[in-house]
Amino acid sequence: MRILKNILVTGGAGFIGCNFIRFLLEKADGFSGRIINLDVLTYAGNRMSLADIEAKYGSMAQVRYFFEQGDICDRAFVESLFKKYDIDTVVHFAAESHVDRSILGPEAFIKTNVMGTFTSLDVARNAWKDSSSSPEGGSIRQDVLFHHISTDEVYGSLGETGYFTESTPYDPRSPYSASKAGSDHLAMAYSHTYGLPVTLSNCSNNYGPYQFPEKLIPLMILNMLEGKPLPVYGDGKNIRDWLYVEDHNAAVWAVMRNGTTGETYNIGGENEWENIKLVNVLVDIVSAKTKLDTAKIRGAITYVKDRPGHDRRYAIDCSKIKRELGWKQTVSFEEGLARTVDWYLANPQWIESIRSGEYRRWIEKNYGERG
Ligand code: NAD
Ligand code: TYD
Repeated sequence: MRILKNILVTGGAGFIGCNFIRFLLEKADGFSGRIINLDVLTYAGNRMSLADIEAKYGSMAQVRYFFEQGDICDRAFVESLFKKYDIDTVVHFAAESHVDRSILGPEAFIKTNVMGTFTSLDVARNAWKDSSSSPEGGSIRQDVLFHHISTDEVYGSLGETGYFTESTPYDPRSPYSASKAGSDHLAMAYSHTYGLPVTLSNCSNNYGPYQFPEKLIPLMILNMLEGKPLPVYGDGKNIRDWLYVEDHNAAVWAVMRNGTTGETYNIGGENEWENIKLVNVLVDIVSAKTKLDTAKIRGAITYVKDRPGHDRRYAIDCSKIKRELGWKQTVSFEEGLARTVDWYLANPQWIESIRSGEYRRWIEKNYGERG
């Protein structure tokens, strides 16, 4: 089992990253080290998501949480963090993460997901050169780890049957998934070519607290609460495999501690839902918790023009991580959705903080009233 001490979390102010930091400091077994959260704070990053963590762990006699605002493409800055904090582990969440945005503007995805991942890997490779080896030999310390976070979308789209396994050939079909596929290949190339200790995980759709409301589940919840239309793309029958964010993070932690370097682990919910069925379940949960009129909310479901190149079905075979690392899902979909709706109901301030900023302007420009 690896002992990880000074963990650089990239993108720790985003949805999954902030939940990961919270999980690691408050719940996970076997971590007593420090977390350095490197995030440039795009529209999707929110320092408020960790305000309580920053107050608690940032003011201890032995500080365990640090926030550093900066870009993963900025080599000099990333290098300075490796030195300043003696980084021995990277868990790389930072990314542009939304398919619809990647269709409207792919460039930011190439910059952050491809170039940013390259820069992070390359800084790690240099920082972790084994000082006992000859300069030309350039061997790399093996008591370090770069864990790269990726998505099942790199595998493409499934028909009605079948599952993505770790050996499914890559077949990305959106600028987002293509940029993530590029980053995955770079991570594995750094492992094969330079001997950088890399692990990689490909996960299905996450949901839970702090998710930016451009993604299906929080967008639907907030639109229901605000009496807005509920936009369902195409025929509503596209299928996604949903996993509660804390189960994803527990899997990431299991890979970081015990995963084999040079290998990929698929993580999934084994929980496939057609979009329209999921939206209908959300209507039931939100109306039950708020006493809003069920028929009125359901009546707001609006079929809209399909997403270009919309992948039909994703479904993950996660038997490897279950078998090899003993991970399993712990939160049922019913429980996870109830927790998620409760969280959005209880956190209007967080919602306001993101809606007052760039997000609001972007949504208005691109989607008009639909957002
Ligand atoms: P998110 O969009 O909520 O957060 C991304 C974070 O990265 C933000 O805080 C943002 O400010 C930061 N960031 C973006 N560009 C940066 C840069 N150049 N430098 C530093 N920070 C930068 O995304 P998320 O949903 O939390 O996803 C996190 C990771 O998990 C991504 O790599 C994504 O591809 C992957 N993933 C997401 C899902 C999902 O369902 N959300 C599923 C599987 C994998
Ligand atoms: P999304 O949350 O954007 O995740 P991803 O595209 O990475 O899977 O979308 C999940 C599914 O929901 C996807 O099939 C697209 C669909 N969708 C809608 O029908 N309406 C919406 O407003 C959004 C954001 C997504």
